[in-house]
Amino acid sequence: MYSSEIIGSGMFVPPQVITNHDLEKIMETSHDWIVQRSGIEERRWVDVETATSDLAQKACAFAIENAGIDKSEIDCILVATMSPDHDFPGVGCFLQPKLGLTKIPTIDIRQQCTGFLYAMSIANSFIRSGEYKTILLVGAEIHSKGLDKTSRGRDVSVLFGDGAGAIIMRRTENNDPKKDSFFISSHLFTEGAGAKDLWAPAPGSAMGNERITHENMNNNLHYAFMNGKKVFANAVRRMCEALTLALDKNNFKLEEIDLFLFHQANLRINEMIAQEMKIPESKVFNTIQKYGNTTAGTIPIGMAEAVKTGKLKKGMLVASAAFGSGYSWGSSIYRW
Ligand code: UT7
Repeated sequence: MYSSEIIGSGMFVPPQVITNHDLEKIMETSHDWIVQRSGIEERRWVDVETATSDLAQKACAFAIENAGIDKSEIDCILVATMSPDHDFPGVGCFLQPKLGLTKIPTIDIRQQCTGFLYAMSIANSFIRSGEYKTILLVGAEIHSKGLDKTSRGRDVSVLFGDGAGAIIMRRTENNDPKKDSFFISSHLFTEGAGAKDLWAPAPGSAMGNERITHENMNNNLHYAFMNGKKVFANAVRRMCEALTLALDKNNFKLEEIDLFLFHQANLRINEMIAQEMKIPESKVFNTIQKYGNTTAGTIPIGMAEAVKTGKLKKGMLVASAAFGSGYSWGSSIYRW
């Protein structure tokens, strides 16, 4: 059977930097509160013209270049996002022509902060089955256009940023986990009982006769609501569980992992995971300080930035884990 290998990565964040001090000017918050509770110092916000597919297109172009392939080799596009250009069709449909591609299938994945782990797992399965050979995966979000930027929404709005990361996964016959570069494992979970701990109720088919009503919007039901403490506690617990499972199933010792690329929801979550699992801080690569939480973008942005800064090199064994709205969570192990 085939396996799949990550052969290139790229990222793009919009140039506009929004610091915590900038947020202090528009809502009741403080730089110190945001840094102490989340580790975030700044994030990026797009300008008015930019759509999610535009960020995705730029990250994809970098990934294609980094992989050294011709774009005509791509035979499928997977987009992980919860902030699409339009209600429908999916971002993939707008991204494909922006990349100068036609006809190849595009699939949008809606698993929020775990979206990119789901995308990698789906791509790996397509490649292993022989259905596709070279898949472009992108995680992209524009949160800044959907945040409640008043004091009422401050618990959520200070955490999120805009950005995109992309990788190319390609068929290989590599299969020795101890030395070969390939996507080794994926473990995915969903627990829908926690769905309303982090969600946006509207627009939606469960919202009455009309998906969008003035009443629902006046009640701010299109903004995210979060039970922060509960989500935090579950994130630490579930990401630790998923990582332990991935190590056990593959007979890897924690010390064998060269780099941990976690979802970036809160620096304190990643610090607690490292503490609980006895992972040296130097092996955890975080970008949240600069970009905030870009949801489906965090893991591929981390990959591209770790490559650029020399922290992630060919042959290294990497473990990723994520947790978010759904609840959905998971882990994967791959040799870069
Ligand atoms: O990627 C998706 C998954 N998301 C997550 O994993 C996020 C998980 N949750 C968290 O990261 C944390 O719960 C938060 C960072 C969101 C909040 O931290 P916390 O320590 O749980 O704070 P809290 O919600 O208990 O709020 C503490 C206080 C409250 O004031 P009182 O009631 O003690 O007077 C809040 O009103 O901080 C207040 N507060 C703020 N103050 C300044 C809430 N948000 C802010 C803010 N600036 N932005």
